[in-house]
Amino acid sequence: MAHERNAPGSPDDWWRRAVIYQVYIRSFADADGDGIGDIAGIRSRLPYLRDLGVDAIWINPWYRSPMVDAGYDVADFRDIDPLFGDLEAATGLIDDAHACGIRVIVDVVPNHVSDRHVWFQAALRSSPGSPERARFIFRDGAGPNGDEPPNDWQSAFGGPAWTRVSEADGSSGQWYLHLFAPQQPDLDWNCPDVDAEFLGILEFWLARGIDGFRIDVAHGLVKADGLPDIGYAYLGVLPNRVAEPHHVEDHPHWDREEVHDIYRRWRRLDDRYPHVTFVGEVVIEDFARTARYVRPDELHSAFNFPFVRAPWDAGALHDVIDDTIREFSAVDAITTWVLGNHDVTRVATRYADGDVEIGRVRALAAHLLMLGLPGGAYIYQGDELGLPEVWEMDPSVRQDPIFLRSGGADVGRDGCRIPIPWTGGGATCGFSPSDATAAPWLPQPDGWGAMSVATQTADPHSPLTITREALHVRRTHQGFADTSLSWVDDGSVDTLHFRRGAGVGVLVNLGKDPVPLPDGAHVLVCSASTGHTVPPNGACWYESV
Ligand code: GLC
Repeated sequence: MAHERNAPGSPDDWWRRAVIYQVYIRSFADADGDGIGDIAGIRSRLPYLRDLGVDAIWINPWYRSPMVDAGYDVADFRDIDPLFGDLEAATGLIDDAHACGIRVIVDVVPNHVSDRHVWFQAALRSSPGSPERARFIFRDGAGPNGDEPPNDWQSAFGGPAWTRVSEADGSSGQWYLHLFAPQQPDLDWNCPDVDAEFLGILEFWLARGIDGFRIDVAHGLVKADGLPDIGYAYLGVLPNRVAEPHHVEDHPHWDREEVHDIYRRWRRLDDRYPHVTFVGEVVIEDFARTARYVRPDELHSAFNFPFVRAPWDAGALHDVIDDTIREFSAVDAITTWVLGNHDVTRVATRYADGDVEIGRVRALAAHLLMLGLPGGAYIYQGDELGLPEVWEMDPSVRQDPIFLRSGGADVGRDGCRIPIPWTGGGATCGFSPSDATAAPWLPQPDGWGAMSVATQTADPHSPLTITREALHVRRTHQGFADTSLSWVDDGSVDTLHFRRGAGVGVLVNLGKDPVPLPDGAHVLVCSASTGHTVPPNGACWYESV
């Protein structure tokens, strides 16, 4: 079977313990001075990523897009949006990254396309029942005149998940489904065109040297026959927007059984591209259900959203770690860990309890916890700097459709997407060149430069310096190659303390008092150096013989 080629120890199993850095392209580095990050900017910063010590980067969508949802509304999967560069720049980046020893993962968005996509434009011009409409989910409306949505489904961005179109003769016509913005019509995965098209898209990028794919809304592609009502507005789609994470048995548009068949077909690509890795954005409450996506003939990994949601609390984190290991090992999958992404409040703010400094210190300790665990890990750009969420922003500059569609009731996700500070000074802290023609697409707050890459590189105790050290130790120390984890009972309920291989130990202190390291322990990396103790909100990696 194909997946045996990726058995532990094979040269193609790079993803098993990889540290993957998420590049949110719009906000990473702007080379052409238009205020928006681009491919040339990423290329210019590859030495930074190499020196940081990551194994791979995941780049958010860079395809042609009207940018209603920051690129998650894709108009053409086989072309790069001119904001970011062109195809030649993309292949140049892939080659340059490989030359630096860095793999490249791109986003694939199979649940929906942009309303500007040629398929949707053709569907709008075509009549009800046509093959063009069959690629999407068009239905007649409910009610006597068909002027009510076909069912009660809600958009993850607020409002009904249905929009009515005008037919060619100008009359009010059918409705189409969009689980996100109206400009993101859902595809119908029962249509063979859709299946063939996405296999073609994956091959297109694999032929250009891509090492893997992050699958957007991986649990959402298949909808129940007959599109039955849910019975209430369900909000649980984006990881930090779960108002009340109700579990709905047999949910009509999340986590349908048939979605697994799609990933089995995709996984077969590793016959010809044995290095490929698929990571799913699977947003489901139930670990056992999530684990079904990473069975041996499906995806290689799935984001660990319960870990993202866990509070700074030893018991809660301990439980999530145990649940993850239990459920993922039951299907022989690697465990993966993640603390942030472009959809969730920055970890330094989630863990702050209102104190910015404590938030930064805990975020660093949380990264040492995450990077000390067995399996793969994701670092969201800027989290290695301990950047906080930016709440204060003039409403006129906010761009997230969640903010716009909720009428401002939900500030949305712009606050974790602020352009990266590279230098301590300068108008844009080095994000754009000094002769830039436009300001950064989201404004950087005052004081942003104090947390910059340049400032932190010069500081031996900064989050960046310590993260870099940790990645070096993780990569070179035999103890981290081991897949085992055994808890150490040190008598405290406020610590997370475990052993890995080769005498390596990880001790995180979530309590209020300093905790001593075990006798004979030799420190490998510490989030704060205080001799032989781990301070409150601190974490240490040690080695003992
Ligand atoms: C995923 C993306 C998010 C996007 C949504 C719709 O959750 O991470 O940014 O808005 O899908 O594509």
